[in-house]
Amino acid sequence: MTAEASVRAFAKLNLGLRVLYKRPDGYHELRTVFQTISLADRITLSVTRARSTKVAVHGTPDIPDNLVVRASNRILEALKIAAHITISLDKRIPMGAGLGGGSTDAAAILLALPALLRKRLPAEQLASIAAQLGSDVPFFLHGGTALGLGRGEELYPLPDLPAVRGLLVAPNVHSSTADAYRDLSAQLTSIQLQNKLVSFQREIWQSAADAGGVIRMDENDFEAVVFERHPELRQIKRRLVRAGANPAAMTGSGSSIFGIFPDRGRLDAAKQLFANERVFPISFLSRARYRSAWQRALAPYIQPDLWPPQSPSAR
Ligand code: C5P
Repeated sequence: MTAEASVRAFAKLNLGLRVLYKRPDGYHELRTVFQTISLADRITLSVTRARSTKVAVHGTPDIPDNLVVRASNRILEALKIAAHITISLDKRIPMGAGLGGGSTDAAAILLALPALLRKRLPAEQLASIAAQLGSDVPFFLHGGTALGLGRGEELYPLPDLPAVRGLLVAPNVHSSTADAYRDLSAQLTSIQLQNKLVSFQREIWQSAADAGGVIRMDENDFEAVVFERHPELRQIKRRLVRAGANPAAMTGSGSSIFGIFPDRGRLDAAKQLFANERVFPISFLSRARYRSAWQRALAPYIQPDLWPPQSPSAR
């Protein structure tokens, strides 16, 4: 018997991203706030139990070591099941753009596959598989707004923010995450570490106090090094600010830049200004909406009150 579902894998922004220091394991210690947005890939999955495992992916340029294939194999291993899996990827999230496109697709497989096989995996096991696939993958098991510590995999849900609207400008620039960390690493000092910890904490407290307003976390440490390599990105940020965006910032290690607009009029005017570029209208997607989008997509296969998988200590 074949089980099928069509799901949306939503993109993320980093509302503020501070890189503290390089750890002994080679990763960098971060402080960030993740936020899911309305921009999404569409993934259609079909699964049939079989004697041996085959995973086929359609609709995406051939990416070696595709994360969705690795995610599928990890889930089948964990469940000790063999199956034929067909995945159709309708990619809308630009790649190499700091939007977590590859990570959200992988997380979508981790969420959907056990449900389609009518099996459950403990939340802790899913989180561990997610962290092994990539630093941003665990966030997409939850969505909404979350504080990210460690290499981004240690997550603390924050209260949902309003569904503010904005514009995402995604120029045709592929920013390599590993290169951005390498460039930034050389500049990290212990004085900066102290300052960043204090200022990040202040911003988080302030945004919690302002909940219901527009979150104003916009300091992304990668801007300094990535804007140096790609000066056109600095120009985009300046144009968004001039058009009335607040905040306007790069997301992740780039290259896309988002601007949040306080009203419809200024957002529409900004759309005109960027009419000749690759832009996406976006809005913040809360954890509640993220969860209900998933529950709708997997409705035939899940009991909503038991899904998504939660650790007993999670809210
Ligand atoms: O975890 P992920 O595979 O997404 O990371 C890609 C690369 O980015 C890593 O190999 C590492 O060089 C760098 N990275 C880092 N610190 C982090 C996350 C990623 O140095 N917190």
